[in-house]
Amino acid sequence: MDFTNKNILITGASRGIGKATALAFAEKGAKVGINYRNNTEEANKTLAELKGTGHSLFAYDVSKKEETKALIQDFVTQYGKLDVLVNNAGISIFHDLDEVGFEDWTYAWEQTFKTNLFAVANTSYWAAQAMMTSGGGHIVNVSSRGAFRGEPTKPAYGASKAALNAMSQSLAKKLAPYQIYVGVVAPGFTETEMAAITLTPAERENLLRESPFKRMAQPKEVAHAILFLASEGAAYSSGTIIDVNGASYLRS
Ligand SMILES: NC(=O)c1ccc[n+]([C@@H]2O[C@H](COP(=O)([O-])OP(=O)(O)OC[C@H]3O[C@@H](n4cnc5c(N)ncnc54)[C@H](OP(=O)(O)O)[C@@H]3O)[C@@H](O)[C@H]2O)c1
Repeated sequence: MDFTNKNILITGASRGIGKATALAFAEKGAKVGINYRNNTEEANKTLAELKGTGHSLFAYDVSKKEETKALIQDFVTQYGKLDVLVNNAGISIFHDLDEVGFEDWTYAWEQTFKTNLFAVANTSYWAAQAMMTSGGGHIVNVSSRGAFRGEPTKPAYGASKAALNAMSQSLAKKLAPYQIYVGVVAPGFTETEMAAITLTPAERENLLRESPFKRMAQPKEVAHAILFLASEGAAYSSGTIIDVNGASYLRS
């Protein structure tokens, strides 16, 4: 896969899967825009690790609708064209129904949907406007295995990712005539800060038992699938959802 002269914007790319994806695109010749929310120190470290030149930081909170417009406009002003948008930024909040009060319950639903679903709808809206006038592009959304198998302690997370899948498929149909291709990558547990924070040692043990690989995914394995969906030959795979879960949950 070659991304020479391609301009890529990745949300939530200061660390974790987004960072691995930024590194992989830069390795293949792309110019990469790293979006993050507030961890400038980490974002700068990631920027310094990218191969090649022409990469930039974009500090915008994608859960705020006005910032999604500003993010895409800023990127297009700087690079002239947006070839690939990777919607990777996501949050995961515990809100066990039999443990949290109603305020915490509703807070988790609202925050999770703002970041994991509405942000993607909004960046995709502005990205599609830009791509429609520049001859097309790719949008790759990072979902989760949790969309399919249920998330009993984080129901908003599972629901937001299931809705993200449905939205991606709707947009894949809507945008195909504009040569804009929309794909989804659905990772299982991946060795990032999000996984470190959200897993108790017992849960970690349990999940290692779930996978025939007896390990978690590495961020670069998720990045590999993202690059495939963003590549030129992947146009006809638009609308697809690629599982990267080490055969721990197989959908029929
Ligand atoms: N790790 C897993 O096990 C796993 C499994 C399945 C799916 N996923 C999905 O993969 C994606 C990445 O997960 P990860 O584990 O790499 O996460 P992570 O390590 O927690 O990193 C999250 C990234 O998103 C950014 N971010 C969060 N909220 C944002 C906002 N409102 N605006 C802009 N940036 C924001 C963070 O920036 P700041 O540091 O500046 O806040 C950071 O760069 C998520 O969509 C997640 O749901 C992860």
